[in-house]
Amino acid sequence: MIDKYINQIIQGDCLELMKNIPDSSVDITFADPPFNLGKKYNGYRDNKEFHAYLDWCRRWIYEMVRITKPTGSIFVHNIPKWLTYYASFLNEVAYFKHWIAWDAPTAPMGKSLQPAHYGILYYAKELKETKFYEIRYPHKRCRNCNYLLKDYGGKKAGLHPFGPLVSDVWTDIHRIKHNKYRDEHPCQLPIHLLERIILMSTDENDIVLDPFVGTGTTVIAAKRLGRRFIGIDIDDKYVHITKDKLLKESSNSKIGDIWVSFYLDEIITIRDIDWEKLVPYFLIPENIKDIDFKKIKLNKQGRLVKYEKNMVLPMFNQEATNSR
Ligand SMILES: C[S@@+](CC[C@H](N)C(=O)[O-])C[C@H]1O[C@@H](n2cnc3c(N)ncnc32)[C@H](O)[C@@H]1O
Repeated sequence: MIDKYINQIIQGDCLELMKNIPDSSVDITFADPPFNLGKKYNGYRDNKEFHAYLDWCRRWIYEMVRITKPTGSIFVHNIPKWLTYYASFLNEVAYFKHWIAWDAPTAPMGKSLQPAHYGILYYAKELKETKFYEIRYPHKRCRNCNYLLKDYGGKKAGLHPFGPLVSDVWTDIHRIKHNKYRDEHPCQLPIHLLERIILMSTDENDIVLDPFVGTGTTVIAAKRLGRRFIGIDIDDKYVHITKDKLLKESSNSKIGDIWVSFYLDEIITIRDIDWEKLVPYFLIPENIKDIDFKKIKLNKQGRLVKYEKNMVLPMFNQEATNSR
């Protein structure tokens, strides 16, 4: 029954549409709902009454949990104010894993500290069964001198060549700053934010559902990483933009057989378990302590694979065409 929704972008109210999705049938659900801050969307009016907004949120959050598999996870992105309520809803029906603080400036609200993070609530449908992969990001370096920013003292010999494990504070992924990378949408998320979430919580071919897909960030990340997807948005214009963008995407965010997340030609998220298979594609200093001032780079084979990844895989483009 879920098959007809796979790799589709559906226009409509997510609460109504999710009712058609069977229990425990998708691997992860990710929601980036309207924040009720009066943002100017194409059609949606972002100004519900306080209790009406929360009641609405509770209903789609419960639907997300219902349709997620026992091995799956539920992610919800919002400002901390709303996440405190969402957590109380989720605590009733799922299991808390993390409050991920995504370091990105947000608008101040009256007399307040300068808000500097969005939260991503990360819940497991069933704690014991949940799928989770540790992930790594590249070492942070001084832009001018290339030295590692963090002082590892006498522990440099134990450094991981690629970079540290990702914590629950994400400071290396930034909001989309340049208009040339933006669609006509007021709150588009960066694709590599979603790629990190997807690499951490799913496997190839798993199903990722986003009930507020906007201009397609989640489904594009899923497609690039060889996952299946379902996207819903109430706005026809955003649905069209997403479908058009999907046509131009391929499932090739890979080095060799390994799915990785790229940003501007740099690999910025890998899964820890994949590292051994990725090693042959990198130039790694013989003395690991040299990582302190030498960044690892893709070797000739790695660069070749990266070049080939730009080739379009016809099978996936055909699927996107069918979903129009
Ligand atoms: C914060 S935006 C999502 C942006 C998206 N993450 C992206 O990166 O493009 C919220 C989206 O929810 C959509 N929306 C509002 N009410 C909805 C509903 N009842 N069902 C489905 N989508 C809805 C809006 O049209 C808007 O595109």
